[in-house]
Amino acid sequence: FGTNVAVRRLNLAVHPGEIVGLVGPNGAGKTTTLRIIAGIIRPTRGRVIVNGHDITRHGIEAKRVIGYVPERPSCYENLKVREYLTFVAKIYGVPTHEAVLRIAEYADMLQLTPFLDAYVGTLSKGNLQRTLLAGVFVRPPPYVIVFDEPIYGLDPRGAWSLKKHLKKLRDQGSAILISTHILEVAEGLCDRFIIMHEGDVVGQGTLEELRAQCPDARNLEEMFLDLTGGIPAE
Ligand SMILES: Nc1ncnc2c1ncn2[C@@H]1O[C@H](COP(=O)(O)OP(=O)(O)OP(=O)(O)O)[C@@H](O)[C@H]1O
Ligand SMILES: [Mg+2]
Repeated sequence: FGTNVAVRRLNLAVHPGEIVGLVGPNGAGKTTTLRIIAGIIRPTRGRVIVNGHDITRHGIEAKRVIGYVPERPSCYENLKVREYLTFVAKIYGVPTHEAVLRIAEYADMLQLTPFLDAYVGTLSKGNLQRTLLAGVFVRPPPYVIVFDEPIYGLDPRGAWSLKKHLKKLRDQGSAILISTHILEVAEGLCDRFIIMHEGDVVGQGTLEELRAQCPDARNLEEMFLDLTGGIPAE
């Protein structure tokens, strides 16, 4: 981005069977990192490898396996939710009879069933987010999931369903990377954390590993504060 570097020295790997949480203050570079991984913006330096495919050189193969849901979604306003989900399933080669079952299953899980015949353009923010999440889940697993603030727009029931499903997908071998500001969620959901601050990684590891880096912190929130500018005095 001109002379401003949004993200520096970042080396991260997400393996099948783990949920990694990308956390950091506003403007830390989380969205930029996820957009680079999803292949939306090209890094000036460095590479992104997805299932062995380089995202800039073999974009189609890499993007095929990535399930990306952006922070501010907008898409296919003129399709009905059901049409959108059917369309996605078709692109990913899910047989029609199976697509019908998968759409019903994930619409139910994400409380989208009443909106299946609504136009995507008329949905509330949270229901649009649910629609895009369902659009990833109707595809055949395992997934390489890249979700930017997936919990943010969801109500408590939606958040609960999503967390439960992500854990199930992880246990079935998907590789999951999510960004979130909700540290209680991150703490309960993620196996590992990457803490970003001003475009740099300032800490990473499991809760225990982070605890070793910040011995005075009692929880992820205090580690986060400690690593991103210090814990404010009371
Ligand atoms: N398209 C762009 N052009 C120029 N600068 C950008 C662009 N997108 C992001 N930035 C800058 O890159 C930095 C990181 O932004 P980014 O959106 O990645 O942060 P974030 O960690 O996702 O923040 P938030 O928690 O608010 O979502 C910011 O300084 C931002 O202003
Ligand atoms: Mg962001």
